[in-house]
Amino acid sequence: MSLDTTVKSGLEGVVAAQTRLSSVDGQAGELIIAGFPVEELAGRATFEETIYLLWHDTLPNAAQLGELRQSLAERRTLPEATLALLRAAAAQESDSMDVLRMAASTLSLPTKGRNDPQQDALTLVACFPTIVAAYWRMRHGHEPIAPRADLSQAANFLYMLSGEEPGDERVRGLETYLNTVVDHGLNASTFTARVIISTQSDMISAITGAIGALKGPLHGGAPGPALDMVFEIGESAQAEAYLRAKLERGERLMGFGHRVYKVRDPRADVLSVAAERLYRTDGDTKLYDLARQVEQQAIALLEEYKPGRKLQTNVEFYTALLLYGLDLPTELFTPTFAISRVVGWTAHCFEQLALNRIIRPQSIYSGEHNRRWTEVAER
Ligand code: COA
Repeated sequence: MSLDTTVKSGLEGVVAAQTRLSSVDGQAGELIIAGFPVEELAGRATFEETIYLLWHDTLPNAAQLGELRQSLAERRTLPEATLALLRAAAAQESDSMDVLRMAASTLSLPTKGRNDPQQDALTLVACFPTIVAAYWRMRHGHEPIAPRADLSQAANFLYMLSGEEPGDERVRGLETYLNTVVDHGLNASTFTARVIISTQSDMISAITGAIGALKGPLHGGAPGPALDMVFEIGESAQAEAYLRAKLERGERLMGFGHRVYKVRDPRADVLSVAAERLYRTDGDTKLYDLARQVEQQAIALLEEYKPGRKLQTNVEFYTALLLYGLDLPTELFTPTFAISRVVGWTAHCFEQLALNRIIRPQSIYSGEHNRRWTEVAER
């Protein structure tokens, strides 16, 4: 086969895999997760149902769901060595995504070298919330709270952060978020996981690499700054002046624009509905109402300053609002994203393993030719 020597910068437009896990249509603003439009699935499914759906391509019956819940619940406790690492990292005040990456790789300690992708996937999905919650507590001078086997993944995560069993509305809010961001085509971290597993490496290595990719600000994103913007605006009368000044300075409005979506990101709608419900239940919609007004003003100004660029609200804007409403601090936004996306990563690894061919693209050499060796003393 002759080699196509055109370099596709950022691999844009290159199709590198076939998947049944999710489909992203950026022109129509559609996201399908294992056959379900995201709007159909996210607000209805428990997170465990979504995990089962991604791993098995069908919704579980009651017995299958019970079995999955039990398998996850019994794997939630961290090995001693992982807890020791978290303590050492807390003393260093390490970044929470760095800690998730380091701690995830320790999960291969108890495996004693056996390579069992199914078991490892269960352990990873079960332990991510424990790692994130335990580290956050240690980092703030508190003892970690042991996981509870009688709670769902989402309820147990909220419980391990605060020590209080969350109400149904909060669990529903978090599950809607986790379901919404569980998979999103061949994004950078998912591709990373597929590349690693394609070498017939193990699941824990693949997921550790994916965490490294997600950590980058161009991927895991920073919903924090989107929320800071709403706080800085403070009241809707200030929105236009504040946003206009930002755009006049050539700054970007966080939470708007997307490489793929040229219409409103469908995940923003799902999360906006979930956030509204949560803030209404809590009886204070001031922040939610302000965010909606900021959003409308931002879209109008983006059209004025960047006509034709089709800059619309993206997933980060309402992620920030929803997670903040669940009392999650900004530093936990990206690790919470990972608690969901690890399911997509592992599901992609299963797909890759089922039809594996090592992922090995080509590069074009652009260096020097015919160099001659000079001894170090002569350089
Ligand atoms: N605010 C203001 N202007 C923006 C913008 C934003 N949020 N997003 C894009 N633009 C402008 C760019 O300045 C550029 O203008 P120009 O053509 O006059 O130079 C134009 O729109 C196209 O931007 P580009 O950087 O080519 O788009 P991209 O597809 O590479 O970038 C993002 C996509 C998400 C990186 C970009 O929209 C962004 O930085 N958004 C803000 C950060 C954010 O919310 N990230 C989370 C994404 S889920």
